[in-house]
Amino acid sequence: MKIKKCVLPVAGLGTRFLPVTKELAKEMLPLVNRPIISYGVEEALASNCSEIIMITGRAKRSLENYFDRSFELEELLKSRGKMDLYNMVVKISNMAEILYIRQREPLGLGHAILCAELVCKNEFFGVALPDDVFINDVPVLSQLIKIHERMGGTVIALEEVAPENVSRYGIVKSQFEVEPGVHKIIDMVEKPKPEDAPSNLAIMGRYVISPTIFPLLQNAKTGAGGEIQLTDALKVLCEQEPVWGVVYKGRRFDCGTQKGWLAANVQLAMDDPELREVILEIVNK
Ligand code: UTP
Repeated sequence: MKIKKCVLPVAGLGTRFLPVTKELAKEMLPLVNRPIISYGVEEALASNCSEIIMITGRAKRSLENYFDRSFELEELLKSRGKMDLYNMVVKISNMAEILYIRQREPLGLGHAILCAELVCKNEFFGVALPDDVFINDVPVLSQLIKIHERMGGTVIALEEVAPENVSRYGIVKSQFEVEPGVHKIIDMVEKPKPEDAPSNLAIMGRYVISPTIFPLLQNAKTGAGGEIQLTDALKVLCEQEPVWGVVYKGRRFDCGTQKGWLAANVQLAMDDPELREVILEIVNK
């Protein structure tokens, strides 16, 4: 079956971005010319997921508003003859069909995914963590979907990280490489010490997940910080069903931290001929 649904969890508190996130959803921070969330939604659509499910929280109303109509603004732009801007604003609100589900308490990424059970319980679905922004001609989610269509099962995006950085990520154990860059995963561990890491293949924020995950999340015990970890449920899943890891092709920007977000802005601006000049001028001063 085709993957039609993509879940975007955005209910996290974004504490690494405080004080900005005291009042502002980190997903609404600009990445050059549009908010971070826009990149995630565009990637899901470009991967042919026509149904977007956003797991939101109390402080995330601005995301819903961003993708909704804005009549006052539209009327104002129209009456002033600013049709380019009018068309741009209307296009955003017509971009996608989005279903919003509230995660009442931020009990972790695993719990956020569990909130999608009602709509995803009978089919495989995509997951995109908007903090991880990927830039590539073939979207990373679609790279995973292609593997799922060919081989079935759950598919996780992987990146080779430096051994000293394994403790920042979920790290997988590969049984074997079925084809270049595609691993059969038999175990995984969240944020291991370098000496305990089963590999240097780290889980990044794109997945295609089997609906079997839901009962596993229901039964998952709370881990670090009282949160339900997705990795814990995936670890059990790979004992029951095939789970593939795909070393994705593309560039990743970690926009979940201030440093990562700043680096992403500079690097993406450098890709734009006009903005590149602005950056170079500042640096050369
Ligand atoms: P993070 O681990 O980055 O957590 O979540 P966070 O709360 O967003 O940020 P920090 O660590 O406090 O700075 C990874 C993804 O899971 C979502 C987040 O919105 C992010 O997309 N998430 C996390 C939820 O939707 N709900 C949660 O309870 C936790």
